[in-house]
Amino acid sequence: MSFSPPGSAPAPELDPHRMPLHVAVIMDGNGRWARRRLLNRLRGHEAGAETVRRIVRASRETGIAYLTLYAFSTENWQRPTTEVTGLMGLLERFLDGEAAGLMENNIRLRTIGQRQRLPAGVRAALERAIEATAANDGMTLILALSYGGRDEIVAMARDLAREAAAGRLDADRIDAHTVAAHLSTAGIPDPDLLIRTSGEMRISNFLLWQIAYAEIFFTDTLWPDFSREEFLSILGAYQRRERRFGRV
Ligand code: IPE
Ligand code: IPE
Ligand code: MG
Repeated sequence: MSFSPPGSAPAPELDPHRMPLHVAVIMDGNGRWARRRLLNRLRGHEAGAETVRRIVRASRETGIAYLTLYAFSTENWQRPTTEVTGLMGLLERFLDGEAAGLMENNIRLRTIGQRQRLPAGVRAALERAIEATAANDGMTLILALSYGGRDEIVAMARDLAREAAAGRLDADRIDAHTVAAHLSTAGIPDPDLLIRTSGEMRISNFLLWQIAYAEIFFTDTLWPDFSREEFLSILGAYQRRERRFGRV
């Protein structure tokens, strides 16, 4: 990542006191971007990786504390093998290529999702980058890989059932905090802002529990075309929204 110096000065029109603490992004539209250019879908994913660099940098510079990127869903395993293999190879190269930039910019890497399902090479690259960046505290970048909200909720239910059966947990004392503490996002604040590119207006099994009160923005822009300017303009629009959390 060739980041500019990690100054955390927000763009002039943004109020530094009203920045979302956690931004989550459903990065969609790589395939359509490629098709429009008569290119292989993988070229779209490669172009999408450039956008990841751009948005990570913009997030770091504007002082966002947590950025979660939906990179591969539990359902995406059903895509053709060539696409899955290509994506996994791209991911591995991306991780190895970005590790130095993450260090330079004081960014900590984490993941959510079924890490054990990822190919060994990707797992190894992840483990290296996660370990190397563990003490960084400028921003946390969370990659959702083989992630599904329902899968996460099922795993949480199993955990709680096991603890209750073992007598370590009183079922009547389970509350929203107990549930949140058993999700893969335990300790991470819920997203304040959720962005989905490519014009699809759905959640596609992303962070089902955590987005209960997220402000949602949909844009028709395909992920490879998603610019820093549009990202900043969504941050500005977010700051103009009134969040009520069920109150008046
Ligand atoms: C998003 O782009 C990336 C992943 C889901 C891995 P898509 O590959 O879904 O692109 P479209 O939706 O087909 O255009
Ligand atoms: C959601 O995009 C998953 C990711 C961005 C990783 P999809 O392209 O897989 O979602 P659907 O199939 O349009 O719902
Ligand atoms: Mg898609």
